[in-house]
Amino acid sequence: MDALLSLLACPVTGETGLTFEGDPSGEGLIRSPGGRAWPVIGGVPRMLPPDLLAPFLRAHFPDFATRHPDVARWLTDAPEAEPAVLETLLDYSFQHVDLADSAPLVDDWRATWDRFQPGLPPEAFAGEVVLEVGCGEGRHAWLVSQHARTLVGLDLSRGVEVARRRDPRPNAFYVQGDLRRPPFRPGAFDAFYSNGVLHHTPDPRGSFDSAARLVRAGGRAALWVYGLDEMRWSYRLSHLTFLRPLTNRLPRPAQMALASGLTAAVEVGLWAPARALERVGLSTLAARVPYHDAAHRDWTYKQRRMFDRLNPPITHYLTREALLEWLRGWAGVQVINADGQGWSARGVKP
Ligand SMILES: C[S@@+](CC[C@H](N)C(=O)[O-])C[C@H]1O[C@@H](n2cnc3c(N)ncnc32)[C@H](O)[C@@H]1O
Repeated sequence: MDALLSLLACPVTGETGLTFEGDPSGEGLIRSPGGRAWPVIGGVPRMLPPDLLAPFLRAHFPDFATRHPDVARWLTDAPEAEPAVLETLLDYSFQHVDLADSAPLVDDWRATWDRFQPGLPPEAFAGEVVLEVGCGEGRHAWLVSQHARTLVGLDLSRGVEVARRRDPRPNAFYVQGDLRRPPFRPGAFDAFYSNGVLHHTPDPRGSFDSAARLVRAGGRAALWVYGLDEMRWSYRLSHLTFLRPLTNRLPRPAQMALASGLTAAVEVGLWAPARALERVGLSTLAARVPYHDAAHRDWTYKQRRMFDRLNPPITHYLTREALLEWLRGWAGVQVINADGQGWSARGVKP
């Protein structure tokens, strides 16, 4: 916990010098000098800003504030949260599926890492103090924490609980928080990376700047985000952007029904044929079937993945030019078309 405390700052005031009391792998409190107390539940510091922490505790841990009046006290005047961010925190269904899916799929995780971060293996972070911005259920953090000196995974969602359970390494820490009001000291990290996250925030550029502030001068950033222009047709189609104006207006049961129907169509049209090709020894061909990576996942996973494609609370698509602009003034800037499936962008902070 001491290694983490030295990186933390209060997400409200930016104060450092936070302290911890309690059981580091169970329940406790992180206190900031100004008197705020943040829950640690299941070994995970919950350092969400008050507008998000108050509804989160009410929805998921209603007893915590009763047992810890110091937390309840400073949360009483919490402002209203932005609805789409609150929905990302409480309802983004992919996270709920991942919560249930705790089978380690290391080969799968490595394959997605290589797709998102071509030419930048997890080993490249050896010996560094690294932040993953939006670690979800920790599939990539698990790969990087084998090499980093310290790995911190930050995410808005309860995915951090899965990440913590999967990765008990003593140099790995998982923190629930909002990357736009992050609970870390500016310049605390040697590097940050982020896979598939910034485009799900209200202002991706502002989110990038927020994460960039956490890296020291000479430190590195590596991110993967959605694109549309210059991408493969199958990737563009998979985002179902043409259906969103309709699906955004449908009631939730109709959204679920549509997700089920489309999942059944992809099952028949792509996943079943991909599995059949594998059975007859044509695995290389099967790997070329679009979205074959989900062919062996269960129905709930596939249906939820489809649901989130149809109804994400927030989605932006970035262009090469926008990413070059984000990284203007950084050294060694690269914006790579990641195999026609999104953009990888990197640079060294001036
Ligand atoms: C598509 S998932 C990707 C997760 C992970 N990087 C991976 O590749 O498995 C997007 C993640 O972004 C997280 N996220 C969205 N907005 C966030 C915010 N403001 N602060 C922190 N995490 C956020 C979500 O909770 C979700 O876990």
